[in-house]
Amino acid sequence: MKTIEAIGLSKRYGARNALDGLTFAASAGEVIGLLGPNGAGKTTTIRLLTTILEPTSGTFSVAGIPGDQAARIRHRIGVLPESAGYPGRQTGGEYLRYAARLFGRSRRDARTVAERLLSDVGLSDRADARISSYSRGMRQRLGIARALINEPAVVFLDEPTLGLDPAGQREILATISDIAARGGATVVLSTHTLPEVEQVCSSVVVLDHGKVRAAGPIHEVVAGAGSLSAAFLELTEAGHD
Ligand SMILES: Nc1ncnc2c1ncn2[C@@H]1O[C@H](COP(=O)(O)OP(=O)(O)O)[C@@H](O)[C@H]1O
Ligand SMILES: [Mg+2]
Repeated sequence: MKTIEAIGLSKRYGARNALDGLTFAASAGEVIGLLGPNGAGKTTTIRLLTTILEPTSGTFSVAGIPGDQAARIRHRIGVLPESAGYPGRQTGGEYLRYAARLFGRSRRDARTVAERLLSDVGLSDRADARISSYSRGMRQRLGIARALINEPAVVFLDEPTLGLDPAGQREILATISDIAARGGATVVLSTHTLPEVEQVCSSVVVLDHGKVRAAGPIHEVVAGAGSLSAAFLELTEAGHD
């Protein structure tokens, strides 16, 4: 079954096409890379598919639910927004238990779920430390755990590796690979930097100025250009801006 289907999805702000005719599909267990330079339309795409924004035109479904049924979609997705904020005075454990309670879990269930997710993202030993003491990478991993709290069919991660050093990036990507492999969820991962995605993504959508420059299995997009970086530069003119 397709977990995401977008057909001609577009978002216009005045004269500016933030997104212009995005068509793509994804299945369970896939990691989709949403690639493109700053301003390409990645965050707009994620906001549309997570029902935070309404499209100007086009249609979509997420987890088999039509795009106009926002409340149902929100129950079946997890999101790590572009600049997620965290309550520094809470511990990681408290933060996740609270999130689980919001989704209707009992106190005991919430504890179990929080412990499992903290372990999944490698934060078990920091469960009882305040978030204010976490590194940026640890916060991002906590944010990924938070996005998984409701066992979502689709997880959207908007630039999860932004601002991390290479080791931090590798940890995030390893976590993402695990999620897709283990849970059968679809992961949509946006980034404007490349080296990482080739290892974790099965498919990519390359955006530039709101338009799709390429979409499909990563090997097809790379074919011809030799590497993803070369394909990306060729497709997005990233070298020029
Ligand atoms: N609320 C808004 N009002 C006007 N223009 C916007 C708004 N949000 C995004 N844009 C524009 O839409 C384009 C795509 O933005 P965005 O989706 O945030 O790109 P990305 O996440 O790839 O960096 C950019 O040109 C941006 O300036
Ligand atoms: Mg963005």
